[in-house]
Amino acid sequence: MTVISLENVTKDYGHGRGIFDVSFNVKKGTVYGFLGPNGAGKTTAIRHVMGFSKSQRGIVTVDGLDSWTNASTIQESLGYLPGEVALPENLTGEQFIQMMMDLRKVNDDTRCKKLIEFFELEASGKIKRMSLGMKRKLAIVTAFMHDPDVLVLDEPTSGLDPIMQQRFIDFVKEEKKRGKTILLSSHIFTEVDATCDEISIIKDGHLISSFNKQELLKITEKVFNLTIQNETHFKQLVQKIETNEAIHLLFKNEQTKELQIGCYPSDLSKFIKILADFPVSSFNEIPFSLEKHFMKFYDRRVGGELAWQ
Ligand SMILES: Nc1ncnc2c1ncn2[C@@H]1O[C@H](COP(=O)(O)OP(=O)(O)O)[C@@H](O)[C@H]1O
Ligand SMILES: [Mg+2]
Repeated sequence: MTVISLENVTKDYGHGRGIFDVSFNVKKGTVYGFLGPNGAGKTTAIRHVMGFSKSQRGIVTVDGLDSWTNASTIQESLGYLPGEVALPENLTGEQFIQMMMDLRKVNDDTRCKKLIEFFELEASGKIKRMSLGMKRKLAIVTAFMHDPDVLVLDEPTSGLDPIMQQRFIDFVKEEKKRGKTILLSSHIFTEVDATCDEISIIKDGHLISSFNKQELLKITEKVFNLTIQNETHFKQLVQKIETNEAIHLLFKNEQTKELQIGCYPSDLSKFIKILADFPVSSFNEIPFSLEKHFMKFYDRRVGGELAWQ
């Protein structure tokens, strides 16, 4: 069942900015990753989902309701973490939490307390004296304290330290296990890789690729490293691989007798049958990396994050 749906949505801000003809569906109980560099249009699309922005063309619905005409219902029921958090600076964290509890008509503070503990939020001080990371944590706690079924998270880990980023990823996984539907935007491959079932890549306002991660894994070449015990067998195996269409020799080192081999999942049994006749002393698979797979969509890398242009 589709919970969030965008159909041919366009918002043109001029000069090539905005989102253009964007379509995707988020199904119930799944995590949908919306991946793209800064300025790609992630926040614009998310603001349409939340009913903060009206599309020029196309339709956005949540649970079958038009987002724009039902904006207040949607904003009340969804858990929303904005990309840029604006909080009332003069309140303390605790006062803000209480205010949000009253607004959301949350009477039981059990979940709220759990969230405060899980994210190590220190809520007693004034918001204006909080670090950026602490403000993000406060926004996270208040976004999820009413235990919404649908979560819309705009770059949720930005501003969090690495430990908290990991904790947030764990939180998303737990929420998914509890049956929640989650739309998550990010510019970090690893984060999307770790949490999402379906992924769309957006660049310059256009979706350039949409895929299901399990389906992608099924059709992606697997890569294995192996070492052969002696030179004679090493040479024989290399020859066998070079004449076999199902298996691809990616790298060989005659000194160390190491090989790197590529093989599609559908040809794995052929590969294993060939190997059975050889004295293999080590064998391991290089895990699939979404980042490497999509390296073709960008030209530059900066640290662990991506510069997409
Ligand atoms: N209200 C607006 N008016 C004009 N341009 C905007 C507005 N909001 C966003 N943009 C532009 O649209 C593009 C996409 O922005 P945004 O959706 O915030 O990207 P992202 O969230 O992926 O970083 C950017 O070039 C941005 O400057
Ligand atoms: Mg954004």
